[in-house]
Amino acid sequence: MKKLLVATGGGDCPGLNAVIRGIVKRAKKSKEWGVYGSMEAFNGIFTDPLRIVKLTGKKTAGIHIKGGTILKTTNKADPLHYPVKDENGNIQLVDKTKMFVDRIKDLGFDAVINIGGDGSQKISKAFFDHGLPVVGVPKTIDNDLSATDMTFGFQTAVQIATDSFDKLVTTAESHHRVMIMEVMGRDAGWIAIHTAIAGGAEICLIPEIPYDIEKLVQKIESRYEKGRGFVCIVIAEGAKPKAGSIVARQGEEGSRHVRLGGVAFQLSQQLKDAGVRAEIRETVLGHTQRGGTPTAFDRVLASLFGVKAFEMVMEGDFGKMVAFKNNSFISVPLEEATRNYNHVGVDSFIVRGAKGLGITFGD
Ligand code: F6P
Repeated sequence: MKKLLVATGGGDCPGLNAVIRGIVKRAKKSKEWGVYGSMEAFNGIFTDPLRIVKLTGKKTAGIHIKGGTILKTTNKADPLHYPVKDENGNIQLVDKTKMFVDRIKDLGFDAVINIGGDGSQKISKAFFDHGLPVVGVPKTIDNDLSATDMTFGFQTAVQIATDSFDKLVTTAESHHRVMIMEVMGRDAGWIAIHTAIAGGAEICLIPEIPYDIEKLVQKIESRYEKGRGFVCIVIAEGAKPKAGSIVARQGEEGSRHVRLGGVAFQLSQQLKDAGVRAEIRETVLGHTQRGGTPTAFDRVLASLFGVKAFEMVMEGDFGKMVAFKNNSFISVPLEEATRNYNHVGVDSFIVRGAKGLGITFGD
């Protein structure tokens, strides 16, 4: 039997378990491969004892409906920027790709499926460049990978955000308030714009379109003048004013990412400073958007990604990532998959369409 190693890396995301189950189910039919999972991304291959689990049909039965990942995950310990203490005790991030690849090979694995977002697929590419047969599976609630029309987890996040938005509308209406709801997405406004359209927001602020606070004040005032009496705003965590910067904090030790979150409060203060007299309330959805059970769409997408990824392993189609393009499941070279970031196009139809629905972006 050949040995396949599976890992989930980066932030978790609804649908990861469905991918794992899809791989295991398809592998079982092949009768040629045993599937193993490394716990907490690739950390499991270095611990003593090893934290590598055999992924059987029994172990993965029914997990497709569960959020999170049975393999756990981390966004630290990136092989390309691996935290190592120098002689002064300071953490330095160094490239340890070769150490990871050698270890995986020494453990007798014939191939790897790496499930993760942009950062994880850069790791997949580095592994492949170092001679490891690897297939990538894209995940992220942010939907910011350009090689695939959709990542699983995104639809679930939008549904959670929309359900929350709907609840905020009724309370905004009752109190004649301005409600600001902050959603995730890092540098992409996909969750925000989809939620704003689905929920019927008056204002949507995304990283791709820096906003002018005066334009927002005009919109809010005109709503109150018309007697509508409330305003609901969706703001992406990476949105920024034309004059000013985003709200970001230093990530944890070993993590290369800044931590976003808090723009709702910044916007609230800016609106008050600019003269908005209505009461304003802020809601930061945070990690609720990544939790819980995946929607049916995400379960389907993730399960089929799992099957496709395993078939790529069987066919020796390595150095590629599974993608969903024009309603088809295809494989794209990792190089291409990690080249461009998937931003919301400023002149795209989704933005023009949202404007057509009366949504203001503050540009
Ligand atoms: O990339 C997914 C994501 O959920 C972003 O939308 C968010 O900024 C980030 O991860 C949060 O990361 P963490 O779980 O480390 O706080």
